[in-house]
Amino acid sequence: MEMIKKIESALNLKELENLRVELLGKNGTITKQLKELGQLSIEEKKTKGKAINELKNEIAQAIEIKKHMLSNKESDNEIDFTIPEKVSSGYSHIISQEIKTLNEIFNNIGFKAISGPDIESTYYNFEALNIEESHPARDDNDTFYMKEDEKLLRTQVTSVQIRLLEEMKKKEETECRAFSIGRVYRNDNHDATHVSSFHQVEGIIIEENITMQHLKGFLTYLFEEFFQQKVNIRFRPSYFPFTEPSCEVDICAEVENGKLIMKEWGQGKALEVGGCGIIHPKILKNFGMPEANAFAFGMGLERMIMLKNNIPNINTLYNNQMPFLKTIK
Ligand code: DAH
Repeated sequence: MEMIKKIESALNLKELENLRVELLGKNGTITKQLKELGQLSIEEKKTKGKAINELKNEIAQAIEIKKHMLSNKESDNEIDFTIPEKVSSGYSHIISQEIKTLNEIFNNIGFKAISGPDIESTYYNFEALNIEESHPARDDNDTFYMKEDEKLLRTQVTSVQIRLLEEMKKKEETECRAFSIGRVYRNDNHDATHVSSFHQVEGIIIEENITMQHLKGFLTYLFEEFFQQKVNIRFRPSYFPFTEPSCEVDICAEVENGKLIMKEWGQGKALEVGGCGIIHPKILKNFGMPEANAFAFGMGLERMIMLKNNIPNINTLYNNQMPFLKTIK
């Protein structure tokens, strides 16, 4: 398509910005087309409106990708032209690379990797996690149900924690450190920060006398290893049916020269990175464990990667555009 080609061949950020204004600005071509929809019949509005909106999204995405590429290029003034050109070899996708990094971080501190099926029963995804029938997370809008009764595509990797507790009960174990990285599925609207399938990273420690303080110390360590810089996390009271107390975890950071730089609290933006808490005594009791001796946490992997690499649109991680992927190699 001509407009996309024009965007892809923009030579610098200024040229790209001019194109953006020309297409999506107040008086841009696409904006005008959207305004003209008002004069059409309802039927025409539906079909034309959909097509124009799709085009608009496609253009916005192409601009974002190009912007990322050009900003990287423009900040890179150390190119050595004397190095002979090499044939480039393949490499793992950024998501696979970060999964590997996280596996190493967890392995180094004695966590074992656990997993469960993507097609789950409502029991592991909901009931066993204290999410009763009337809970909003059960809403059809969020969950992909299978035709088969009581089966769904898991909406959270937390289901794996229940499989772990079940296993531990069988073996009469009462202590463990485990983590799980896997895909989850949600029937969410597609936009810059939501896709219907993404990854979650979760962990659990069951040991005597575990407190929120251990949880905070542990998560600080985990984020420092992942982001490779000093991190100050903040716990914000929240609610998850399977933990009590529950917290949302925030970091404080700012993007400087295209890179995420951690800040002291009060000197940067608060960015949410996950949820956590002390596992609900009811759940532990169901599996014959001593109460209040376990913490757990969960994070969105794509969100962490987007923050680390300053990527504004989650879709760019999935539409396999080599020029873009090379910029975050
Ligand atoms: N499953 C939660 C979600 O999808 C995240 C989460 C919160 C996981 C707290 C946990 C936890 O293990 O303890 O939003």
